[in-house]
Amino acid sequence: MSATRRSFLKNASLLTTAGLTRALPMLHAEEHDRQRGPNDQIQIALIGAGIRGQQDCASALEVPNTRLIAVADCYDGRLTHARERWGQQVVTTRDYREILARPDVDAVIIATPDHWHKQAATDALQAGKDVYLEKPMIHLYSDGPTIIEAARRSGRILQVGSQRVSNMLYAKAKELLQSGAIGKLNLVNAFWDRSAYMGAWSYTIPLDASPQTCDWPRFLGSAPQIPWNPEHFFQWRKWTDYGSGVAGDLFVHLFSGTHFITGSQGPTRAVATGGLRFWKDGRNVPDVMVAMFDYPEQFNLTLRVNQIAGGREAEGFLFTGSEGTMEISGAGLTLTRYVAPKDPGMTIETFSNEQQRLYRQSYLSKYPDSAAPASEDNRVDTFVLPHGYNDTVEHFRNFFHSVRTRTQPVEDAVFGFRAAGAALLSNLSLQQDAIVHWNPETMTLG
Ligand SMILES: NC(=O)c1ccc[n+]([C@@H]2O[C@H](COP(=O)([O-])OP(=O)(O)OC[C@H]3O[C@@H](n4cnc5c(N)ncnc54)[C@H](O)[C@@H]3O)[C@@H](O)[C@H]2O)c1
Repeated sequence: MSATRRSFLKNASLLTTAGLTRALPMLHAEEHDRQRGPNDQIQIALIGAGIRGQQDCASALEVPNTRLIAVADCYDGRLTHARERWGQQVVTTRDYREILARPDVDAVIIATPDHWHKQAATDALQAGKDVYLEKPMIHLYSDGPTIIEAARRSGRILQVGSQRVSNMLYAKAKELLQSGAIGKLNLVNAFWDRSAYMGAWSYTIPLDASPQTCDWPRFLGSAPQIPWNPEHFFQWRKWTDYGSGVAGDLFVHLFSGTHFITGSQGPTRAVATGGLRFWKDGRNVPDVMVAMFDYPEQFNLTLRVNQIAGGREAEGFLFTGSEGTMEISGAGLTLTRYVAPKDPGMTIETFSNEQQRLYRQSYLSKYPDSAAPASEDNRVDTFVLPHGYNDTVEHFRNFFHSVRTRTQPVEDAVFGFRAAGAALLSNLSLQQDAIVHWNPETMTLG
């Protein structure tokens, strides 16, 4: 964000007459808590207890009446830490099928690398478990219909883990957009800038990593069978055999946010460019990517991820409409309304003086109140999240609400496929050096 923009926002948040800053209330959470019955404990298990799995599990356990029964992971150190963190009574195993066979497990959180999402989710659904499946829902396009069909056939709840969909700031943005606060939406710009000093996605490899402590064949699963490689095991995002680069990791969040706020199903056309600009450490995915998407009759979308962002750590959206803009940045949403001033015409000063005089005269007779709009009309409102707000906890509240009431989750498999399928168009476009097409309704490449 530029210095000018920053100081503008700072000033805007201080405005008292022409603008408002409001802390959003925690209504959502309280409402869910009221619906909680006394004897409806949900017993959960975690599959994939790495960085996100542990965050997810901690967030899930913040929701009242939940209990962790078991944890599966391919690295023994993470199983040990799961017992250190959540108690020695937690059952741990390298093989998630042991967890799925347990009748005391109601629901599972799946936070494995992406190449395991489809298999773990379909196995869990088949075993009768409700599923919270981390984003991106898919690794390959063919995973989408398989997961959707498995969820449908099983009758179990499957919620995808893009937590922004349960974030009250995004709900506010949706409400403002629907109410016409920025007029007709025409453009969405979203971005993610990161500055990982140790190397993007170069997560630490533990000192005891070895084929004895890590179940390498189980980690590989359906991926190409290569010899033990601790970098692949702990830094899997850097290779397409396990992840899908910035598209699947970060674009997908921006799509979930865009689709949730606009109610759109997805783009029809995409073109992307990018490359490996800095982290040339053997990875085969770009570290800079920019892409453009068409939402016909609706708006255009541009996305950017930069993993060498010169110290910037930022994620955000700018929604531009005919009568204003809405910016989501960190914990705040800024709505800037715009009322176009009525003007006596453009370029009239190039006409003869007599024509100018007549034009102004006729204009004033048509628009006697043609003064500039009142500052109230162009006001800036800022909405901020309550301190300590955690949208992952909210997303789990919503998941457990669906599990208890057997109702549609906030982010089902169709929503998950529409977000991830759109995101992966960027990789396709880059690979094919071409504009690529997608039918968001049927969720097929065209
Ligand atoms: N929603 C979010 O904001 C968010 C944030 C980060 C990661 N994620 C997603 O969470 C998933 C995990 O990412 P991470 O950063 O935690 O990765 P990670 O490498 O830290 O953890 C993955 C864990 O899965 C284990 N694993 C691998 N194969 C397994 C298998 N067959 N059975 C059981 N365990 C297995 C690994 O041993 C590892 O401990 C990814 O899909 C990622 O996209 C989501």
